[in-house]
Amino acid sequence: MMIIKTNEQVELMRQSALLVSKTLSEIAKDLKAGITTLSIDKKIGEFVRDHHAVPSFLDYRGYPFNACISVNDVVVHGFPNKNELQEGDIVTIDIGVILNGWHGDHAYTFAIGEPAEDVKQLIRVTKESLYKGIEKAIAGNYTGDIAFAIQEHTEKKHGYGVVRELVGHGLGRNLHEDPQVPNYGKRGSGKKLKEGLVLAIEPMINLGKREVYTEEDGWTVRTKDGKPSVHFEHDVCVRKVKADILSDYSIIEKEEKNNPNLFAASKAVVSYP
Ligand code: MF3
Ligand code: CO
Repeated sequence: MMIIKTNEQVELMRQSALLVSKTLSEIAKDLKAGITTLSIDKKIGEFVRDHHAVPSFLDYRGYPFNACISVNDVVVHGFPNKNELQEGDIVTIDIGVILNGWHGDHAYTFAIGEPAEDVKQLIRVTKESLYKGIEKAIAGNYTGDIAFAIQEHTEKKHGYGVVRELVGHGLGRNLHEDPQVPNYGKRGSGKKLKEGLVLAIEPMINLGKREVYTEEDGWTVRTKDGKPSVHFEHDVCVRKVKADILSDYSIIEKEEKNNPNLFAASKAVVSYP
């Protein structure tokens, strides 16, 4: 059942989404080679609680950390650990919060130092594909229109692998609500979008093949071919003319550009093939 939000509820959800954006921008300040993902997770938990919210992933179906921190070939649901980030690593930080009873859930992929050229392009194209999907999050369109736009830009245009096993979703009082929002599919397929529906749209795109597997810990999802994967996620509200993006990348990108230890995709000069 799809749950439509009132304008007041959407404003509360904007606060939840923005708290995730603020947490990600805070983390972007001190990302560098040598820090552990466990230290990042600890800081995320503290920052969220300091802002009168709770980290929603912790204990969700038994998930044992505040956030999902996925390095290189880890697609999603990576466990924070004591390994130090290395120059050239890419790291996806996915954070969920509950603030005033409403969920925020979004993610950003950072690059430590200088990643390889093909990885820089993967980052840029995946972020572009998220916005191409968001452009379709309009009342009267279908989830398949979002899916098709993301798949076209990543798989068809660049030959990347689009993960099939994991999808975006509705968001509200629950972390996962209807509808599912795949990153692949046919135009006009799936569920019809209504004004006031809030969606987490989240392309997970592999540099190589689309196949993934889950580790024995029951969570960590990796690419089968060991090549890197990128994940960007925004929370958006479906509207009549243009979707309203509730989360905010601009504050994250500002810190990303200010941090000399990070590669910022928006600074990249990448040539199309
Ligand atoms: N962004 C992911 C999702 O929407 C994160 C959930 S993972 C878990 O499904 F840790 F919460 F389980
Ligand atoms: Co999500």
